[in-house]
Amino acid sequence: MSYPFQIKTKEQYDRAYKKSVEDPEGFWGEVAGSFYWRKRWDKVLDWNFKDPDIKWFRGGKMNITENCLDRHLGTMGNKPAIIWESNDPEEHHRILTYRDLHHKVVQFANVLKNNGVKKGDRVCIYMGMVPELAVSVLACARIGAVHSVIFGGFSAQSIADRLQDAQAEFIITCDGAYRGNKEIPLKSVIDDALVQCRFVKKVIVVTLTRMPVSMIKGRDVWWEDEIKKVETMGNPDCPAEEMDAEDPLFILYTSGSTGKPKGVVHTCAGYMVYTTYSFVNVFQYTPGDIHFCTADIGWITGHSYIAYGPLCAGATTVLFEGVPTWPDAGRFWDIVDKYKVNVLYTAPTAIRSLMSYGLGPVQSHDLSSLKVLGSVGEPINEEAWHWLNENIGKGNCPVVDTWWQTETGGIMISNLAGVTPSKPSFATLPLPGIQPILVDETGKEIEGNNVSGNLCIKFPWPSIIRTTYGDHERCRTNYFAAYPNLYFTGDGCMRDENGFYRITGRVDDVLNVSGHRIGTAEVENAINMHAGVIESAVVGYPHDIKGQGIYAYVIYGSTHGDENLTRQDIAQTVARIIGAIAKPDKIQFVTGLPKTRSGKIMRRILRKIAEGETENLGDTSTLLDPGVVEEIKNGKI
Ligand code: PRX
Repeated sequence: MSYPFQIKTKEQYDRAYKKSVEDPEGFWGEVAGSFYWRKRWDKVLDWNFKDPDIKWFRGGKMNITENCLDRHLGTMGNKPAIIWESNDPEEHHRILTYRDLHHKVVQFANVLKNNGVKKGDRVCIYMGMVPELAVSVLACARIGAVHSVIFGGFSAQSIADRLQDAQAEFIITCDGAYRGNKEIPLKSVIDDALVQCRFVKKVIVVTLTRMPVSMIKGRDVWWEDEIKKVETMGNPDCPAEEMDAEDPLFILYTSGSTGKPKGVVHTCAGYMVYTTYSFVNVFQYTPGDIHFCTADIGWITGHSYIAYGPLCAGATTVLFEGVPTWPDAGRFWDIVDKYKVNVLYTAPTAIRSLMSYGLGPVQSHDLSSLKVLGSVGEPINEEAWHWLNENIGKGNCPVVDTWWQTETGGIMISNLAGVTPSKPSFATLPLPGIQPILVDETGKEIEGNNVSGNLCIKFPWPSIIRTTYGDHERCRTNYFAAYPNLYFTGDGCMRDENGFYRITGRVDDVLNVSGHRIGTAEVENAINMHAGVIESAVVGYPHDIKGQGIYAYVIYGSTHGDENLTRQDIAQTVARIIGAIAKPDKIQFVTGLPKTRSGKIMRRILRKIAEGETENLGDTSTLLDPGVVEEIKNGKI
């Protein structure tokens, strides 16, 4: 397979970028021309950021799975599409060729239909990283059902909230999942969620760990039994549903600065075009390369760069069920060695964690197959960047620092491996089609170089968020209202003397813990649900491995015995309400919180104290009770 839109030199990048700005419709029309369409679009782009209303490839008809699967069958049906590495390295791995994957997707698409799933229905997927997860996602896309994958670490309550918001009547799950030395009871978590969600009609359960699970008559069915049924039905085909370019493809929930997570909606054609375009260009994918993205499909990185982007490009993508540190800290390097991985795409938090084990686990493996290393999810500190470059890439592999978001669908700012220059801890330059702009608090553009500001994007790209499910106004106020006619990212950013961008972190109340986005308000709501808690305030603080840790200040009614036990109880409550990823790292009991006279918590002060910067707290004169600050400072843990 060749990629007519692949950029190979810096000059080509400059030309592509210029064209993408001067003639965006011409530019993206050309890129989109190399995909398979049932019917070509009438117009490349219609948009305004006011409502917002953004339509790419209007009138085009297609199905993303015909691009991921069917169109590859003729020329590379026997090529591995997915290499699955199980949690247990001793267990046999599985290789699915494009033909195998097509067969399984078509088969399971028929299972979905048999179980009453129709175009437009929302299907929630809550599974471990097994091939059936990729099959489920693609089978939904095949029949035009809207998938909503929920990361396996979220709690029953989080699942119930998402099911209700998406009004999802169908669920695909596993009995359990393996992660390191743990077995996670996925079906049982789903059962707990369903106590609140009587509208769910069907739960399809994959047999994996074969841990005991309850199976409710009429509602719960086994994946394997359903497959047998379609096998005996005769016609094994399932023609892809013809989708409009702007039909929704999936919903993915992500945290914002306020309230409950929002369902980011991506649509079929633009998402397909942009994830494939960015995949091929950022990683400089060459046919035959083995691509290993270590994310979970439960996050956007897994959607775009394990599943859709690589498969549309006809790549071989590695799906890893386990964790980087089990059975030992050499697991990633073992996988690289075993499958001769060429592109490794991972997160700074994983790198920092592996750095702490020293070079022993690295040295015992042959990493010479590696060509490109990638980082995503949070700012990468220079130490981690150099460690990756020197010890994993041996100075021969370009490191791409890719900045993007759930809402952007694909990589927005990044060097292109070996094509455009890199700079440690800088995402560097925007991809063609991406027009970043820095603004000050009032929305005024900050021009020139060597400047910092809030990062916005001034022109749409094909995989931009279209809406937040069921609440378009929320999409408008969250992303398009802060600054007129701009998409606001929520990130702070600096532009250096060469025009390279460095993302400095969120400027809103969103934390980034081990690369996972968590809203402070969400954690506070969960803490406040704990009996005895009167009020709480949550901030982030620098954490050596996680990037950011969660620091909670809690006003507690009556200390019920041991303070440490109470801390654990509160953490457990958060795990129940959100999931273990949101457990506070530190909990400090306080008698009051620093509030302004209008009752607003001054987080700036709490953040500084959590960061250990107790000397220079700035102006505290507007506080209702400045005395409370002294108490909090003295009680810092
Ligand atoms: O703050 C930025 C940070 O992660 C946020 C997006 O999180 P999420 O939607 O979960 O998507 C993560 C994977 C795409 C951003 O607003 N972020 C992501 N990549 C980088 C980053 N910060 C700095 N450098 C990056 N490369």
